[in-house]
Amino acid sequence: MTRAKRMMEEQIKLVDVVVEMLDARIPLASTNPLLMQIIGQKPRIIALNKVDMAEDGQTELWLAKFRKAGIGAVKVDCAKGHGVRQLVTLVQQAAQPVLDKWLKKGVRNRAVRVMIVGIPNVGKSTLINRLVGKNKVAAQNRPGVTKGQQWVTIAKGLDLLDTPGVLWPKFEDAKTGFALAITGAVKEDVFDRTLAAEILAKWILENCPNFLETGYGVQMTGESTANEVLQAIAQKRGWLRSGGAVDRERAEMMLLRDFRNGKLGKVTIDRL
Ligand code: G4P
Repeated sequence: MTRAKRMMEEQIKLVDVVVEMLDARIPLASTNPLLMQIIGQKPRIIALNKVDMAEDGQTELWLAKFRKAGIGAVKVDCAKGHGVRQLVTLVQQAAQPVLDKWLKKGVRNRAVRVMIVGIPNVGKSTLINRLVGKNKVAAQNRPGVTKGQQWVTIAKGLDLLDTPGVLWPKFEDAKTGFALAITGAVKEDVFDRTLAAEILAKWILENCPNFLETGYGVQMTGESTANEVLQAIAQKRGWLRSGGAVDRERAEMMLLRDFRNGKLGKVTIDRL
């Protein structure tokens, strides 16, 4: 992590503006406060991505909170390309003080340099592909700098580093770990799938029980347990193991996948 931090510091030295991409479903869990230390006084813009999977009302509240704190923030859906143009405008606005400073020193026509940073799977490469306009940036999930990076002009006077800065997710507490696991920011091999599915089932029971009815046709009560939810889903699908016991593991995998892909509905886990 120390090495990754040092590399990120080197990368950020190259740019004038930083775009921090957050997952709109988990604006708290998908940020890393260490980034602030690294950025220092450089302008930062927040791009709240995957808004198609987050609750609209919550997204607006988060945007208002960031803006009230003086941080430029915009909602984007990089999968469809919504909000990308507004993001570029915001970056240009954030760059104005930098341009003014250069002008005072007599520097004209220098392009402002920007980079996208964020935790894995938040949508950095998808955004870069949209901005660059071609499918030339491969998904990059390792923290730090990649060799062979280059600058791409994405608007007049605006150059983008074509490699995203990959932030390491923070695992400060169980709640953050859960949020990162069920949204796909951390891979399945680093968490206990059975436990994650149980916590998710409980979370759904408490926060949006209607998902179970609309998504799987199962009706649960306020007293139902996570185990009962998973069993009921497997039963409804007719998933049985040899011997006749229901295949709960299959239901665990489906619940996690459907939730992660937004199939069950729009959800914001970090709520205001
Ligand atoms: P990263 O560089 O930050 O690691 O993320 P990347 O762009 O690879 O995106 C991770 C996943 O999130 C991709 O899905 C991508 O399509 C999806 N994604 C990015 N932006 C949005 C968005 O605004 N809305 C939604 N719904 N999804 C988004 P994937 O399943 O991993 O790959 P694929 O389906 O693109 O093949």
